[in-house]
This record gives sequence, C-alpha cells and structure tokens, in this order.
Amino acid sequence: MRFFMITIFAALPGAIGGAVSQAMAPVTLPVPSQRSAEGRAILYKRCSGCHAVELVEGHGGPVDHWKSVIDTMLDRGATLSDDEYQALLAYLTSRQR
Ligand code: HEC
Repeated sequence: MRFFMITIFAALPGAIGGAVSQAMAPVTLPVPSQRSAEGRAILYKRCSGCHAVELVEGHGGPVDHWKSVIDTMLDRGATLSDDEYQALLAYLTSRQR
C-alpha cells in the first residue's frame, strides 16, 4: 500500500498580467531610408537589362567605388537621370555592413 501525497504550494504574486511593459506598437519596416528604397526599384529597372541584378547586389564597396561602377555602366550604355543616380547610389551604399 502506497500513499502519494502531493502538495502544491502555489505562492503567486498578486499582480500577474497586471503590468504590460511594452506597448503593442504597429510594426514599421526597417527600411534605411525612403531614398534607398527608391534606389532598389531603380536598380531593378535600369540595371537588369544587361546582366542579373544579383551581379550588382553581390558586389560591395564604399561610395567612391560605386560611383565608378555606375559611371562605367553609364559608359557601357546604362541610362540614369541625376535623381536616379543619387537614389541608386544611396541604395547601393546603404547595403554596406
Ligand atoms: C548597357 C548594358 C549594361 C547596363 C544597362 C548595366 N550594366 Fe553593369 N555591366 C555591364 C557589362 C557588360 C558588365 C561586365 C560583364 C559582366 O560581368 O557580366 C557589367 C558588370 C557590372 C558589375 C560587376 C563589376 C564589374 O565591373 O564587372 C556591376 C557591379 C555592375 N555591372 C553594376 C551595374 C549597375 C549598378 C547598373 C545600373 C546603373 C548596371 N550595371 C547596368 C553592362 C551593363
């Protein structure tokens, strides 16, 4: 004959669920800037005609490097307005880690 004696002492503090420390804020997308979001669209529009976009996105470097890459592409026949140039540069540079 066995006796199982199970005693549960639940010492709960009184205020469970009383304090919510973080407000449920709406989620905002981690886009570095509107400018670089535009730049990404421009990359797809202007830079995918001759080679894959992945060729560009796999590439990295500081601003000066990207300027010379883009200038080379313009010489090769890419077309960009000044505004598109700036947005694209912002996007490509923002991808630096
Ligand atoms: C008129 C055709 C053309 C367009 C448009 C074009 N490229 Fe290129 N791109 C090339 C050629 C040709 C190469 C070299 C061949 C290859 O690697 O496939 C190249 C290569 C590259 C490379 C690899 C690095 C290098 O120097 O070889 C990068 C980065 C690049 N392009 C970025 C861009 C960007 C950014 C744009 C948009 C502004 C763009 N390209 C638009 C023709 C083009």
